[in-house]
Amino acid sequence: MALLHDRFPGLDLGHVRLGATPTPVRRLESSLVPEVEVWLKDESVFGDGPWGGNKVRKLEWIIPEARRRGVRTLFTVGGIGTHWGLAAALYGREHGLRTLLGLVDQPVDDHVREQLERLGRSGAEIHRYRDARRLKLATPALVARTTIRDRRLPWYLPAGGSNPFGALAYVDTALEIAGQVEAGQLPEPATVVTAVGSGGTAAGLALGLRLAGLRTRVHGVVVNDTFPLDAPVIARLANRTADLMRQRGADLTGEPLVPANVTMRTDWLGETYGDPTPASTRAVADAERDALHLEPVYTGKALAAIRDVGGTPGMPEPILWLNTHGPR
Ligand SMILES: Cc1ncc(COP(=O)(O)O)c(C=O)c1O
Repeated sequence: MALLHDRFPGLDLGHVRLGATPTPVRRLESSLVPEVEVWLKDESVFGDGPWGGNKVRKLEWIIPEARRRGVRTLFTVGGIGTHWGLAAALYGREHGLRTLLGLVDQPVDDHVREQLERLGRSGAEIHRYRDARRLKLATPALVARTTIRDRRLPWYLPAGGSNPFGALAYVDTALEIAGQVEAGQLPEPATVVTAVGSGGTAAGLALGLRLAGLRTRVHGVVVNDTFPLDAPVIARLANRTADLMRQRGADLTGEPLVPANVTMRTDWLGETYGDPTPASTRAVADAERDALHLEPVYTGKALAAIRDVGGTPGMPEPILWLNTHGPR
């Protein structure tokens, strides 16, 4: 049972266990982040299948909802290196769901090449486009074909799985963090830092930390400029997630989140989504020496942000950093 169901008995939302919890937390005692109190929550180990990380947590809520809706195909979009699309294809397949992926070009490096190979083996139906405009133009035909085959519409999931069902995963994870604080495994963080690619992780955390009664503030390191991911967008997604919980029977009171409740910074993004910046590339290489396996698009940028401003008033310590990358 999910922590959310413990906390809100009567919550009518399906949940399927796809990984072991709680994911471990530990103090980062290394030259990676000198003189700043940083704790690591290792989301990379989450996921029982051939991929892990934060996207798998979202599928714990999305897959049962797809079943409830009688859906046969998940239709989602992303860059050609999408972690989300890969996780949806692999875990969806295990639960009898097909995945249709509309993918858009992004800067290609070794990591993206490896992802493309993994995607090729994932069983997903993949369609590639040069840019988002071309994908949009092709979408009606993709949906029509799938609908005829399945005799029902596919369920469209936004990039990164960041609808309110996906965001529930990090409401649940925030409750998990609160339990770890209560158990004395780490101090109450002043800041929780995560990369923001589509917003569901940050929005879910913001809502969940509030529900858990922690004062921890979410600091999102925005790594995607292909759609808006500012504080109003994240607060809106958090509030839509709270609305979903209420509609499904949670007795959830309290004020809505407002943009001032979260920090979203684009300083480490570089030129564009997927740009491997020098700071991110350096962070990935340094982390590798500590046996921490990051990548330059998300987690490298989050670590670069902590190295630059961790411990300052903009990102007060103790910091809890989520390693969201789950290679296998
Ligand atoms: C490794 C990794 N970290 C962080 C994120 C960001 O999570 P979200 O899409 O929920 O903002 C993603 C996906 O976008 C990811 O693949």
